[in-house]
Amino acid sequence: MPRNIFAEITESSIFKDERFLYPEYIPERLPFRDSQIAEIAHALKPALRGGKPQNLFVCGKSGTGKTVTAKYVLRELEEYTSKAKGIYINCFEFNTRNAILNKLCLSLGRAVPRRGIATDEVYAELLSALKRVSIVPIVVLDEVDQLAGNKTISLLLYDLLRIVEHQDAHIGIIMISNNAELLAMLDSRVRSSLLSREIMFEPYTPVQLKEILKERVKHAFFANVLDNEVINVAAAHAAKHNGDARMAIESLLIAGRLAERENAKKVTLAHLRKAFEQIKPRALQKAAPFLDIHEKKILAILCDHVELFSGKLYRLYCRQAQEPITERSFRKKLNRLAELNLIEAKVVEKGIRGRTRAIKLAQPKEAIKEICNT
Ligand SMILES: Nc1ncnc2c1ncn2[C@@H]1O[C@H](COP(=O)(O)OP(=O)(O)O)[C@@H](O)[C@H]1O
Ligand SMILES: [Mg+2]
Repeated sequence: MPRNIFAEITESSIFKDERFLYPEYIPERLPFRDSQIAEIAHALKPALRGGKPQNLFVCGKSGTGKTVTAKYVLRELEEYTSKAKGIYINCFEFNTRNAILNKLCLSLGRAVPRRGIATDEVYAELLSALKRVSIVPIVVLDEVDQLAGNKTISLLLYDLLRIVEHQDAHIGIIMISNNAELLAMLDSRVRSSLLSREIMFEPYTPVQLKEILKERVKHAFFANVLDNEVINVAAAHAAKHNGDARMAIESLLIAGRLAERENAKKVTLAHLRKAFEQIKPRALQKAAPFLDIHEKKILAILCDHVELFSGKLYRLYCRQAQEPITERSFRKKLNRLAELNLIEAKVVEKGIRGRTRAIKLAQPKEAIKEICNT
């Protein structure tokens, strides 16, 4: 009898368990981040006794381990005590003050309808939810630069900072940003009451990337399936791209999958080089999971044009979308896509009709097409 088709494709001779290479996997150990881990833990220590943790501003380039380190520390904290609770928020996903306060309520066991409730009411709900729990929430605002405009960040931080006045409850804030200048751009009153400590994540060196990869490879691949030099070349490649560990790890995942597809016994440098070409640009990779159907539609239209004026783009969009949004909302979407660095919007003078924006893609078309189809 022929073998089941799934048995044939699921029995890998390459991967022992590829999940160890997934971006969301949190390793048992994080080499080269001991001092950052210790600093974060030290700042959170007061929370163990129900006290006020020190607020933190974590910054560094993409792929330097900021997110994974924050999640690692929260996991350790929750394993150790029930007095504090980590609340992780990715600001790509929750990008307004209302959405974030809402998410905080939910994390504290208070369900609030996601739409149609004024921000002040959500805030009142949050205060009352805090009254009922006797824990110190540690709020991680990851990718905090995504909070449309610095005003949003300032207002949100102001909300969080004055919780203690209303409620005599403590709350810890960890902000994570690629942009080291972000704090300096905040409202000065907020900045001074935030009293945050800065923790820098420096890019990894090629040697460090190699160590990180070796550790992952041990769990992800069967012994000896990687050709010599595969790890070295992957580490060197990522080192050239700002020491981005994500890129290093992802290149091995893609290379392994390519080898598997070909039924190859080994992952070779040729697989790895092909993998380098398939790695999505960072801006896309981060934003992709959080794009809505309208944003995807706009991007899809732009894939078919070199450049479009915003009015023409809106008309094309209306023709294609099932339930088009208003022009005002549409302009907001364009602003967001520009902030995400997915499109470029250049203001141009257009004769008597005044100014308009010329819009084009800011990332490779092929990669954009791929996310529009998912
Ligand atoms: N020291 C480390 N040890 C093991 N894996 C790491 C380390 N630093 C980063 N990584 C991995 O590299 C990838 C990128 O890290 P991430 O925390 O997302 O970076 P950032 O948030 O700074 O952009 C993730 O898959 C993460 O697990
Ligand atoms: Mg991150």
